[in-house]
Amino acid sequence: MTPPASPPSRMLAGRAVHPVGLGCMGMSEFYGASDDAESLATLHAAAELGVTHFDTADTYGHGHNEQLLGRFLKEVDGRRRAALTVATKFGIVREPGRYERRIDNSPAYIRSACEASLERLGVDCIDLYYCHRRDPAIPIAEVVGAMSLLVEQGKVRSLGLSEVGLATLRAAHAVHPIAALQSELSLWERGLEAELLPATQAMGIALVAYSPLGRGMLTGAMPAPEALDEKDFRRSLPRFTGSEGEQNRRLVEALNRLAQDWGFPATQVALAWTLHKGPQVLPIPGARRRRHLEQNLASAEIVLSPRQIGELDALFAVDKVRGERYPQAGWAGIEARR
Ligand SMILES: NC(=O)c1ccc[n+]([C@@H]2O[C@H](COP(=O)([O-])OP(=O)(O)OC[C@H]3O[C@@H](n4cnc5c(N)ncnc54)[C@H](OP(=O)(O)O)[C@@H]3O)[C@@H](O)[C@H]2O)c1
Repeated sequence: MTPPASPPSRMLAGRAVHPVGLGCMGMSEFYGASDDAESLATLHAAAELGVTHFDTADTYGHGHNEQLLGRFLKEVDGRRRAALTVATKFGIVREPGRYERRIDNSPAYIRSACEASLERLGVDCIDLYYCHRRDPAIPIAEVVGAMSLLVEQGKVRSLGLSEVGLATLRAAHAVHPIAALQSELSLWERGLEAELLPATQAMGIALVAYSPLGRGMLTGAMPAPEALDEKDFRRSLPRFTGSEGEQNRRLVEALNRLAQDWGFPATQVALAWTLHKGPQVLPIPGARRRRHLEQNLASAEIVLSPRQIGELDALFAVDKVRGERYPQAGWAGIEARR
């Protein structure tokens, strides 16, 4: 596989990375059946194509996702391995096979979760370690204090937070530098734009945009929810189902038409839109299949004009997208609800 010409890199935790990372969650859970052989082949193909930022969490597949990434890290060529930034997360505790969760940010839990992630990934040090969800009962200074001890011990290189508001981000950053905020940002999830986009840029914090393809909806090629695998969690998401899902599909049909007029697939336009929102934005589209990778990476080459960005912003104005982004149980530990 020939790597495409490299687009200008962006910064993450003090390192230059490809602007588009790889989200690994779907390789273990949430989006129906997956195949470890194809997932491993996708991880290797991503590294060959120049991807340097890989995202996982301890809760994805109850450790399976970190183990899969660990297998890949062991196999990958040493020169490539040295350029990779591997991010994982702690804080969501679930029974295997259950979506319901509790959030644990206690220092003792953070220490043990980190040991378990190091073991599963087969590494001595985690490049970027996120608090996945906040437990409001534990002060953020205590959480970041416990995380910063892991940095002192050489078990973690840099720290991140996921789904926190600006006040928490500022309070955390005052205790120890926060390298990245990871939250949902896409054409159909615009909640970060007013406050956190400008703030992260001003604070020198990377904004890692998760679910930048709207969990697949913004590819313009999502089947109806009834056609998805029995275990696919999107069958229960308010934005995919019922009249909300139908309304959102009409927006995506309009996206498909615009993208076609501009000569790109909708997927690339959706990813390029996130990259145009600021130089600190790093989308991590999830892809379990090699055939999706190249298309996603090529989005880093697309230049959209201010007029095109304006058309996309207007098409996906916040009041046009219907339905909440999570079912009830998914809101635990998320600071800003929408
Ligand atoms: N911090 C958090 O709380 C949080 C929450 C959710 C996700 N995340 C992270 O963000 C990553 C990405 O989010 P996500 O996976 O939820 O959603 P996403 O990236 O918005 O969408 C993933 C879906 O899009 C499909 N897809 C990707 N590229 C495609 C292409 N070129 N053409 C057609 N379909 C394509 C994937 O299919 P295939 O998989 O079949 O290739 C998958 O079904 C996750 O993997 C995870 O690392 C973090």
